[in-house]
Amino acid sequence: MEFVPAHESHARLWHSWRQDRSAIEFNPFEVQDHVQLASRLRSCSSDLSNRAYKEYRWFVVVKEKTVGTIALSRVDWLKSEAYLSYHIAAAASGQGLATEAAAAICERGFASDLQRIRATVACGHLASIRVIEKLNFSYAETLTRHFELPQGKVDVLVYERMR
Ligand SMILES: CC(C)(COP(=O)(O)OP(=O)(O)OC[C@H]1O[C@@H](n2cnc3c(N)ncnc32)[C@H](O)[C@@H]1OP(=O)(O)O)[C@@H](O)C(=O)NCCC(=O)NCCS
Repeated sequence: MEFVPAHESHARLWHSWRQDRSAIEFNPFEVQDHVQLASRLRSCSSDLSNRAYKEYRWFVVVKEKTVGTIALSRVDWLKSEAYLSYHIAAAASGQGLATEAAAAICERGFASDLQRIRATVACGHLASIRVIEKLNFSYAETLTRHFELPQGKVDVLVYERMR
């Protein structure tokens, strides 16, 4: 597995993954077309030594194919905290890739002096809860009716791992 720096050229691919039914089911994606995603990609970094950013994103490449994206977002360098997010294309899911990618990016974050990494998961998103548990995150709290999803408002579970 390799991590390549996020670049605006990833926008169309990322946009296509966000259309997957399995992704929409559990994630409150803002409606963003590939042009808006490209703008978002321009405003993030992949260099954790540069503390000027709030979002650090990479794309996951396996056997020369780009299969997912992973990010540390809402980074607060004063508090040394961030949120982890990950997205593996539906076609590549079920091979342990989210777990492997997330573990590696958490290690990078902790090596860059983050003290606490959080993750939020919609209640019922069993695959993502399993990923978080495999990474030894601990349950922290529930945010009631926090995500607006196609099936209505759902509770969100907050997990966290300390350095
Ligand atoms: C959720 C997602 C990240 C999983 O990626 P992945 O690469 O398939 O994850 P992994 O293979 O590393 O691990 C998935 C685990 O969940 C388990 N799992 C999958 N579907 C499950 C289900 N319906 N119920 C219970 N467990 C399930 C798998 O068996 C595996 O656990 P195991 O290793 O103990 O067998 C991926 O489907 C995805 O990106 N979805 C869209 C975006 C998203 O929801 N991101 C997370 C936001 S919180």
